[in-house]
Amino acid sequence: MYKLIISFILLAFVIACASKESSSSGAPSVAEGEQVFKKYCILCHGADGKLGINGAKDLTVCKLTQEEREAQVKKGKNAMTPFEGILNETQIKSVASYTMTLK
Ligand code: HEC
Repeated sequence: MYKLIISFILLAFVIACASKESSSSGAPSVAEGEQVFKKYCILCHGADGKLGINGAKDLTVCKLTQEEREAQVKKGKNAMTPFEGILNETQIKSVASYTMTLK
């Protein structure tokens, strides 16, 4: 009986960990944003955000808020590609927060 209780506790613990993991991988993060940035943004903005290809702005001096960056990544602007349809909502939030860290 004692062993049964222990295995129930273990099982509950494993389930709790597994569900926590799946929810956290769906949340935006700077780490995910860095991956997205390296794949989609360095073409114009450069690895450090300072490169200005085709009029791309230096992201290290960018004054836009998190929300404004998310909107610009989604909709694009002038020579910048709209990423709506290429990136999902979480990736857009993540990459916007990553650009906030570029100084
Ligand atoms: C095809 C080239 C190109 C790519 C790829 C690109 N951008 Fe841009 N980006 C631009 C250009 C051009 C501007 C300036 C737009 C304007 O204001 O005329 C810009 C501006 C921005 C700005 C606003 C800067 C400011 O201070 O106004 C942000 C933020 C930004 N880009 C983020 C990103 C992110 C994040 C990605 C990757 C998901 C990305 N960009 C991919 C060309 C690009």
